[in-house]
Parts: sequence; C-alpha cells; structure tokens
Amino acid sequence: MNTLAVTCEDVLKANDRGTHTVPSPGLYPHQWLWDSCFAAIGWAHINPERAKQELLSLIHGQWHNGMVPHMIFSMDKKYARDRNMWRSWVSPNSPNDVATSGITQPPVLAEAVWRVGNELPANERSQFFTKMYPVLVRYHSWLYLERDPHSEGLALLIHPYETGLDNTPPWEQQLREHSRPFWIAAIENIGLEKYFNMVRRDTRSIPSEQRMRNIDALMAWDAILRLRRKRYDIDMILHRSLFAIEDVGFNAIMVRNNQIIRDIAKIIYRKIPKQLDENMQKSVIALESLWDETYSIYFSRDFITNKLLKQPTISSLLPIYSGVIDKKRAAMLVKIMTTAGAYWTDYPVPSVPKNSRVFNEWRYWQGPTWLNTNWLIIDGLQRNGFSQEAQALISHTLKMVRENGIWEYYNPKTGEGLGSSDFTWTAALTLDLLHQSGEHHTDKAAQS
Ligand code: GLC
Repeated sequence: MNTLAVTCEDVLKANDRGTHTVPSPGLYPHQWLWDSCFAAIGWAHINPERAKQELLSLIHGQWHNGMVPHMIFSMDKKYARDRNMWRSWVSPNSPNDVATSGITQPPVLAEAVWRVGNELPANERSQFFTKMYPVLVRYHSWLYLERDPHSEGLALLIHPYETGLDNTPPWEQQLREHSRPFWIAAIENIGLEKYFNMVRRDTRSIPSEQRMRNIDALMAWDAILRLRRKRYDIDMILHRSLFAIEDVGFNAIMVRNNQIIRDIAKIIYRKIPKQLDENMQKSVIALESLWDETYSIYFSRDFITNKLLKQPTISSLLPIYSGVIDKKRAAMLVKIMTTAGAYWTDYPVPSVPKNSRVFNEWRYWQGPTWLNTNWLIIDGLQRNGFSQEAQALISHTLKMVRENGIWEYYNPKTGEGLGSSDFTWTAALTLDLLHQSGEHHTDKAAQS
C-alpha cells in the first residue's frame, strides 16, 4: 500500500507534461497560473530543478504589459477551440509565440518563487531570484497601473475567473445583476439551460451538481466574449462598465506577495521601483477598508458603487494570509473561522460557510473545502502567531486527504472527494503540509 506522500508524488509525476504540470489529466489539459505556482511548491520537495522549470514555463506567457495570464494553452490541435475562445492574439500586448487567456488569477507567483528558491543551493537561489525579480516587478506594477485606476491601493477584477473561485456567490450575484444579456435571461426563463450540458466538457465526466450551473457558466462565457471584443484593453473594458470588483481574496494575496517581492529584493540587493513601493504601502492600509464591523469579517467591494458585497465566503478569511491586518481583527477572523456551525465544519474550511443561505456542500466554490485556500489560511495563521489553530487545520486537512484520496475539492461535512480525481494542487500542497508537520519522513519510512 502506498503512503500519502508517495501518492502525492505519483500524482504530480502523472500530471507532469515536462515543462509544466496540468491540474488534472482529463478535465484541465492546459497550464493555469495559480495551479502551477502551487504545483511548484510541491515539486520543490521532490525536485527543485523541476519546480524552477514549472515557474519558468509560466512566465513564458507574460504579456508585454506585465500581466501574467491565468491560462497558457496547450498547442495540441485538439484544443484549438479553447485557444480560439480567448484569442489572446487580438491584443497587441499578448506574447507572440504562445496562446493565453486575457485575464489574470490570484498573484501567488512571488510565494512560489520564494518557496522554490529556498530549496535551491545558495548560488542557484540568487540566480533564480535575479531572473524572477524583474518579472514579479513588472507583474505587480501592471496590477497597479491597469487595475487600480483610482490609485486606491486595491486591484479590481473584471472576470470571476480572476478570483480563482469561479462561481463564488457574491460574484455570481453581481454577474446576474449587471452582466446578464437578454438572451441568457431568455434561455433561463424558458428553461433551456439544461441543454447546454451537451457542450460542456466538465459535466461529461463529473456530476453536474458538483460544477457551475449552466446559466452561470453561460454568463461567465459571455463575459469572456465581451472582454475579447474589447481586445482586453482595460480602458475600453472599464468605459461605462457596471461590473468591476475589488476582490478581497485576490487583494489579500497581492499584499502578501508584495511583501515577498520586498524580501526577494533584499536578498539580491535591489531597490523596489519608487512607484511600486508607494503602491505597495498604500495596499496595506487599503485592505482594511474592506473590513465590515457588523459581520466582523472582510468583504469584496463593488468598484462601481463602492459598496461592500456582504456575502461571506472563504475570501472573507484570506486577509489572514496577507500578514498585515490589525491584530484584533485577525483574532476575530480566527474566532469566527473556528466556531462550529459556519466555517468550522467536520472537514474545514468550506468555500462558503455552512450557515449561508447559498451554501451547497457539493457545488464547486459554493461550499466544498479546497486544499489551496486551506494552505493559504494555514500559512497566514502561522505568521500571525496562531500556531495551535494552524496545527489543527493541518491535521484536519491531512485527515481529509488521507481518508478520501487526492481530489479537486471535498464535501465539507463528510470529506467525500468531489470534482476531478488526481488533482495537482491537492497533491502538491498535501506534500508541503506533510513536510511542514514532519510527517513526510514517517510516511516514507513506513513504506520502506
Ligand atoms: C477552475 C478553478 C480555478 C483553477 C482551474 C484549474 O477554473 O476555479 O481556480 O485554477 O480550475 O484547476
């Protein structure tokens, strides 16, 4: 029988495509931004050179304006439809020799660079940091230049996929309210949406109650077409737009990764460019403006109306990962997270709290527990001095994976594996947690 660490390694190796790791063999045949970052964190424990390669292949997709796209497409003939859907080549900013999407994803790249670098011998580490540093500076400078038009210190997002939490409830609600074309409303009204299962790849292999609803998938698809029509030009996109959100999870991740860029700069004796440095400082303060006194958690904000979108999700807790929030607020977040009945389920932490009206234990980002958000929260707990809580969440997470196997996400009440099997970031981050808790060796020893 295989031990967990060996199983994780096997999954990474099976999903390895040489230069990058696909999120899962059948369902996700391309390279995704935050998936690859998490994969690299896992690879770093097995083969740091391979981990480096993962990130080098990712930055190959960086746009001329600095954006790191959320997907780099496989050039296999059979995926022409996927490449064509985004048509990155309509933008003068897209790279010449790769087909990518036209949006980004949570910026965990600096985190991955840092973790991989730390597994390399000292001289290679500084070479690697020297190569990645300008990429990171360009990426984060782009986040401010294009996505923070009012210089508030928070990045706005233009498509739900940029959150990484594709069908997270507050975003779905905003899409429905401000971005639902008449033809989608008509399809919904006459109940035709069920027929769209035929054109969806995911619902062929995974029960549809575990995926996005057809109507929401259609809205997300339509939102892509609108971005594409505007050639991914941010001024055109924001012109008279009713739809742009300062997502709390994304911004918390950006703030933490800003700090890591500072750490990398120090190691290689660089000075952060002045404008970026000022923006980074602004973000630390701006993140607190997403705090809501009534709920005692953070929320995303509608960029257009400037109102908080008061629907609790896993993103509400992610400011703990930023590492910069007010100590009292951090303690309140932890208390809310560990109190039974909402976020503290038998298999925590659910993507939507159990007591929410829209909680659904099977559906994608509307209830299930995911390894990557657990990992970010664990890291935040550790850096904020909540080591006991971090340890408890590590134990719960490892138990869930040990009992059920390597899945894309899990039922937060029963631990049942959902979505795609053999999922890369679950394997990679489980491996990292095993290393952190020192169980990696015991696992391996048990096998030999
Ligand atoms: C889904 C997830 C997203 C992930 C992608 C590939 O779209 O919502 O976060 O990056 O799948 O795994």
